[in-house]
Amino acid sequence: MDQSVINGYVSDSDYLIQAFEAIDSAVLLSHISAFLPEVPADIVDIGAGTGRDAEWLASLGHNVLAVEPVDEFRLAGKSIHAVSGIEWMKDYLPALKKLLNVGKVFDFVLIASVWQHIKDDDRKIALGNLRTIVKRKGRVAISLRNGPGAPNRKCYPVEVGGMIGLAQKFDFNVISHSEAESVQKSNQAAGVTWTWLILEAV
Ligand SMILES: C[S@@+](CC[C@H](N)C(=O)[O-])C[C@H]1O[C@@H](n2cnc3c(N)ncnc32)[C@H](O)[C@@H]1O
Repeated sequence: MDQSVINGYVSDSDYLIQAFEAIDSAVLLSHISAFLPEVPADIVDIGAGTGRDAEWLASLGHNVLAVEPVDEFRLAGKSIHAVSGIEWMKDYLPALKKLLNVGKVFDFVLIASVWQHIKDDDRKIALGNLRTIVKRKGRVAISLRNGPGAPNRKCYPVEVGGMIGLAQKFDFNVISHSEAESVQKSNQAAGVTWTWLILEAV
C-alpha cells in the first residue's frame, strides 16, 4: 500500500465524502451491472470509500463486504449506509492480509477507481490475491483510470492491453471491456476516462 495515497485521501476526506456520496451508483455501475451474479451473492467492494456502491449492491439483495483502508471513509460509511447486508473491514491492496485470513471466497469483486493507486509490481501481487478470494467462474469488475492522475493522491499509469495480459497470467479471462466517461465533473474537465474490465476466474 502507498501510505502517501492514504494520507492524501485523509487530508481531503471531508470534501471527498460528499463527492463520493454525490455519485449515482446505478449510473457509475451501468457498464458492469449485466455481469453481476444472481441474488443473493457474496460480494466484496475493495477500496469501497464511503460504501455508496456497497449499499446499492446490498439493496439488490447481495451480501456485501466493504473493504476500505481510510478510517474517515469507513466511519462515515458505517453511519451513512447503516443498512443490513453490509459488513466493513479495514484492509488494503495488494496484500489483503485480513481478508485472506478470513479464508472466504466471493462470487464477485468490485474495484472502482482504485487500481490507479496500485504500483506496477503490487498489481501482480494484488491479482494473485484476488484470484485466491474469487470462486471459480466468479468475477472481478475493475475500472482503470485513463488520463491525468488526481492531485494530492499519486496515480500510476495503466495500459489496458498490459492489464488484460496480466489478468490472463493470473487465471482470469477478460470477458468484457468497455469505455466510460467520468461521472464526476472535475474528472470530465480534466479529460479523465475509464476502462471497465470484467475478469472471470478460470
Ligand atoms: C477514488 S476513491 C473510490 C472510492 C469508491 N470505490 C468509489 O467509487 O466511491 C479510491 C478509494 O481507494 C482507496 N484506496 C487507496 N489505496 C488503496 C489500497 N491500496 N487498497 C485498497 N483501497 C485503497 C481509497 O481509500 C479510496 O477509498
